[in-house]
Amino acid sequence: MLHTNLSVNEKGHLALAGVDTVEMAEKYGTPLYLVDEERIREKMRTYIGAMSKYFPEGSMPLFASKALCLKKIYKIANEEGMGIDLVSPGELYTARAAGFPLEKAYFHGNNKTDEDIKLAVDSGLGYFVADNREELDSINRIAGEAGINQKILLRLTPGIDPHTHAAITTGKVDSKFGTAIETGQAFELVKYILTLPNITLEGFHCHIGSQCFEIKPFCDAADIMIMFMARVKSELGYLATTLNLGGGFGVRYTENDGDIDIDESIKLIAKHIDSTCARFEFEKPRVLMEPGRSIVADAGVTLYTVGSVKTITGYKSYVSIDGGMADNPRYALYQSAYTVLNASRAKEAPDITVTVGGRCCESGDLIQEGVKIKTPVRGEKLAVLVTGAYNCSMASNYNRLPRPAMVMIKDKKDTLVLRRESFEDLIRNDMD
Ligand code: LLP
Repeated sequence: MLHTNLSVNEKGHLALAGVDTVEMAEKYGTPLYLVDEERIREKMRTYIGAMSKYFPEGSMPLFASKALCLKKIYKIANEEGMGIDLVSPGELYTARAAGFPLEKAYFHGNNKTDEDIKLAVDSGLGYFVADNREELDSINRIAGEAGINQKILLRLTPGIDPHTHAAITTGKVDSKFGTAIETGQAFELVKYILTLPNITLEGFHCHIGSQCFEIKPFCDAADIMIMFMARVKSELGYLATTLNLGGGFGVRYTENDGDIDIDESIKLIAKHIDSTCARFEFEKPRVLMEPGRSIVADAGVTLYTVGSVKTITGYKSYVSIDGGMADNPRYALYQSAYTVLNASRAKEAPDITVTVGGRCCESGDLIQEGVKIKTPVRGEKLAVLVTGAYNCSMASNYNRLPRPAMVMIKDKKDTLVLRRESFEDLIRNDMD
């Protein structure tokens, strides 16, 4: 099957990590996010192992919380020895509540408010990844008031376009994130940072985009960053010791996608960085990466219950499910490709091409179009594969749908890690 944690059991049901997905759907209800915890841990170990093997001491992966954020993921990340990337006070609050050591946290975002910065400083945040001058002034002032010196990285745009979907490309010069090297503004901003008394600049960050299968854009970005760091050293006498390359390794969503060998890719990027550093006679920096999707995506499957199969004579067939864009907005937003199958009859050959429609009251609420599945009947379970990233974290209550539960599987045992929202939860903040 698409990934090694998927199989079909003796009942003909889809299994994830050896557990019957149809039984899970019946036990916990649908829509259900089912997640293979071992797979997440394996991926974290692969990143940690490769980064400590091929990069200088102090290098480590930071899990990009935006891909999946709940207390349990921070417990896993901490047990495995990962750092984390945060982008909001809500993610910071969740990590703190999970007991994650925040000195290993990096706080991103292109508009951190003073309240966000205060919360982070008071919580003992390790690093801000600073975005702009106004924010730097606030960090400097708030750190001063707290009587601390705050470590930061500065986010730069290296001008790389890795040709993924426009909405998830972030390293181009024309971007709301960071400061451009090409225009000379990054250099000027570094000069300014070096005058701020309560901030220590440790290095630079860039993120070129998401769902990249090639290592070339990472190597190109690293070259531009290292050349910049070498210029800063020779002209300003300041030596940056950290290079953060962001996230972005691709994930296999369908049979048409390739796969990426994480260890091998990191090895090649490290080799490239070593030669660039040698060429510019620049000290090898410690390297950080921020994988999100490639850690959690293929650990997840979403299960739905089928309501109807409607064939419009002369047109096409729609399968309606009890979830949709509220629990997975990625097709509606980016036309993202997914693999869909009838989990109740996973052994049987597909015999119908369908559009999978959600239950929200709008035509764009589709999960996928033109997929071949075994014709389901009402009550059977439909599985959408590789939904561990950017599904739960992007879910909404549109149409006042309660957000789904999440169950993690470890050693073939299922544990509820996120309770299904109740109707009570939906009206909790409504005032009479
Ligand atoms: N670091 C930074 C600064 C980022 O902006 C991102 C993703 C990551 C790390 C993690 O990238 P990953 O390894 O997960 O590709 N909602 C979109 C994805 C947006 C990603 C934005 N930044 C989607 O569902 O495809």
